[in-house]
Order: sequence, then C-alpha cells, then structure tokens
Amino acid sequence: MGIKSTNIVWQKTNVSREDREKLLNQKGILIWFTGLSGSGKSTVATMLEKKLHDMGKLTYLLDGDNVRHGLNSDLGFSKEDRIENIRRIAEISKLFVDSGVITITTFISPFIKDREAVRNLLKEDFVEVYVDCPIEVCEKRDPKGIYKKARKGEIKNFTGIDSPYEPPVNPEITVQTHKNSLEECVGQIIDCLELE
Ligand code: ADX
Repeated sequence: MGIKSTNIVWQKTNVSREDREKLLNQKGILIWFTGLSGSGKSTVATMLEKKLHDMGKLTYLLDGDNVRHGLNSDLGFSKEDRIENIRRIAEISKLFVDSGVITITTFISPFIKDREAVRNLLKEDFVEVYVDCPIEVCEKRDPKGIYKKARKGEIKNFTGIDSPYEPPVNPEITVQTHKNSLEECVGQIIDCLELE
C-alpha cells in the first residue's frame, strides 16, 4: 500500500536506535512464529519470553488472539483481512524492534507472500520460527475447541480446513512440538538467536 497523506516529512529524533540498544544492552529483533492453530505457537513463545526475561532481556509478545481483541478488532478471517492483520502487526513490530525490544509475535500468518513482506520490512531483524505440527495433532489438541466448530461448519475459512496454510520454505528455525518437548523447542530457539 502506498502513502495516502501528502505534505508529511519524516521527523528526526535525538535518541537513536543504537542509543536505546546500548542502554538496554541488547539488540532489537523480531521473532516471528508461524504455524497452524493449535500447533503450539503461543505455548512455545510464552515460555521463550519468560526465559529471555529471566536472562535480563526486555521483551514484548504480540499474540494473535489478543491483538484481535484491540488494534485489529475490525478484522475477520477473509484473505484481505488476514493480509491487513499481518501488515499492521508488521508495522507495530517494526516500532517495537526500533525501540530495542526483543519482539515476539504469534500469528498463524498463513500466506508466504505476507510473511515475506514482513521480512522485507524488517530485513536482518526478522527471524522466522516455523512451528511445524501436523494438522491431525493440532486437531486432537484443539485447546480452544475451534477445530470441532470448524468441522461442523460453524466457522468458515478455517486455516487448514477450508482456508490454506502455506508452510515457510526457508525459515531460520523450525520446531516440532509433536516430536520435542516444550523445553527442547525453546532451547533450540535460544541457541539459534545468538544473543549477546
Ligand atoms: S491470521 O491468519 O490472521 O494470522 P491470527 O493468528 O490473527 O490469524 O488468529 C488466529 C486465531 O483466531 C486462532 O488461533 C483461532 O483462535 C481464531 N480463529 C477464529 N476464526 C478463525 C479462522 N477462520 N481461521 C483461523 N483462526 C481462527
């Protein structure tokens, strides 16, 4: 999307990202989880955030369901709305990363094109974590009871059922919650992050 407003000028500030990162003694980064509903994105991300916090890192977790209660409460699950959902999250995440925060997002983000757009926006600050879990397992877990509803036809455009999920081709990190324990998955991510 282009810029609609005219006569706007980028305002310079006196405190830079580097200044903030120096103050925090860390680098801003976006850890972007993607995967089916019920794959374990929130569970893994929540534990990851706690571990990072305990390591003295400043973190912020943006969760799919939570953001849809506020900022994106006007969006549903059509293709267009999912695209807009991810676009807004990407812009918000960019601000968080610029503030020096280790930012973690947990959205299904089913489309490769949209995730690539986030990657292009964040560049080297983007780390894609694919939570790889077969739909049969997700459906069996069904923590929110939504697969049941989707199978009954009570939820339309449900990811993995009547709306597609496009797995990442080259994610920085893949975790398999059906094969490894929660601790192992979190450990894999921390090992890959190369935090100073
Ligand atoms: S995304 O596709 O736009 O990235 P997002 O992660 O924000 O999705 O929201 C997914 C959550 O919304 C799911 O965990 C589930 O609880 C709920 N949900 C409600 N309807 C749907 C649907 N049609 N498809 C997927 N998730 C849905």
